[in-house]
Amino acid sequence: MTEATSATGAGIFDNTYKGEWKKNPRIVDLNDSGSFVNGMPHAEFDVIRREYPLYWNEEAPDWGAGFWNVTRHDDIIAVSRDTETFSSAQGINISYGPDADPAIVNAVVGNMISMDPPLHRYYRKIAQPYFTRSNVARLETRIRELAREVLDAALDKGEGDFMADIAAPLPINVLCDILGVPHSDWNLIFDWSNTLIGYDDPDLGQSLEKVEQTFMQLFGYGQQMIQDRRETPRDDLMTAIALAEPEDGIQIPEVYLNGFFLLMVVAGNETTRNSISGGMLALANNPDEKRKMIADPSLCEGSAREEILRWVSPVNHMRRTATRDFEMHGETIREGDKVVMWYGAANRDPDAFENPQKFDVLRDPNPHLAFGIGEHFCLGSRLAQLQLKVLFQDLLRRAPGTELTGDVSYVRTNFINGIKTMPAKFCGA
Ligand code: HEM
Repeated sequence: MTEATSATGAGIFDNTYKGEWKKNPRIVDLNDSGSFVNGMPHAEFDVIRREYPLYWNEEAPDWGAGFWNVTRHDDIIAVSRDTETFSSAQGINISYGPDADPAIVNAVVGNMISMDPPLHRYYRKIAQPYFTRSNVARLETRIRELAREVLDAALDKGEGDFMADIAAPLPINVLCDILGVPHSDWNLIFDWSNTLIGYDDPDLGQSLEKVEQTFMQLFGYGQQMIQDRRETPRDDLMTAIALAEPEDGIQIPEVYLNGFFLLMVVAGNETTRNSISGGMLALANNPDEKRKMIADPSLCEGSAREEILRWVSPVNHMRRTATRDFEMHGETIREGDKVVMWYGAANRDPDAFENPQKFDVLRDPNPHLAFGIGEHFCLGSRLAQLQLKVLFQDLLRRAPGTELTGDVSYVRTNFINGIKTMPAKFCGA
């Protein structure tokens, strides 16, 4: 089974740059989702990281002026930590497109992931108590129940699609559970979350209008939950958000509270599902490593889990915008320039990892950047790690013979390392 298989045709958007590349040669167009239809273009990233540590990517003129790319481990750490120079407030995607509805961009951008300090810290503090080590540990029993339900259904079928049957349902069910979505709405949220996945992929049958409508439906759902929790507080995350008190006179705008639900569903869903599916693919391609995990299930809460996160790097990139001129690798990043960090490339940087092209479930140390680093380090990292632990422990105990039965296809997107289909047999021995 190879990692790269089927490729789709053109995307919904035409944002590829068709002119001449002026600052450096064109190794790969990172703005073109088509560059990712066979998975992360690691071979091209290896060249970029080695030879063009600050790689300039041209951009279709009506989309933007182009953007810088950093791919080295230590550069991503430096950019992420310097929030004064590299701001998140102008957006965390490469671009939103000339036709993007400002209301949608505000709903998506108007949350903590797109804020700079000090506002960012106040907002993050509201949700942080939910994601402490002890609080997340308390969720384990419930997550085991949810994982059991998912695995029961898949094992009953015997054969299906690993993504649709196992990797996709668990994270969204977990999110619905902790956010306090009534069970009767779980399917609705699952459908909405699926619409947001791979909106540039024609195979998924999405249209820009449908995607925009879904963003607003999720935003509206969150707004409704905030109102509801103010009237009837409960023991869930949305209640904590709804009842948040302003701190030190900094009033958090209502729109940010309303957008929290949307942020959670966007940030916590596709990322986790692709760490599970990408992990399964890595195990299928590395049976010796899989055997080590079966023999020692504790690896699923330690080095094997972290290696899955490094190997898969579910979030391809995050963007910053320079607030001042800044020298790096002999180039000047100008104020207002976009700077994009590629986590999957940094996670295979030979200066940071020994033998980085090897999937090694005993790897130690493993300073991967799959969750980012610094100010915006993933708030849900412990929740994602817990799901990976539970899912792989239970899968390898109950169905260690689970195997892929056909080619894997990837979602046409440059944002998430996303698997689309993954035919599989779920079996014991
Ligand atoms: C394997 C799964 C996941 C991966 C790889 C991942 C990755 C990331 C990355 C790279 C960032 C950094 C953004 C930046 O620096 O601009 C981030 C931030 C964030 N993630 Fe995750 N994430 C995962 C799961 C989750 C889950 C399960 C949740 C919530 C339930 C979540 C919520 C967030 C939030 C709220 C932020 C913004 C934090 C801030 O701005 O301070 N993530 N994530």
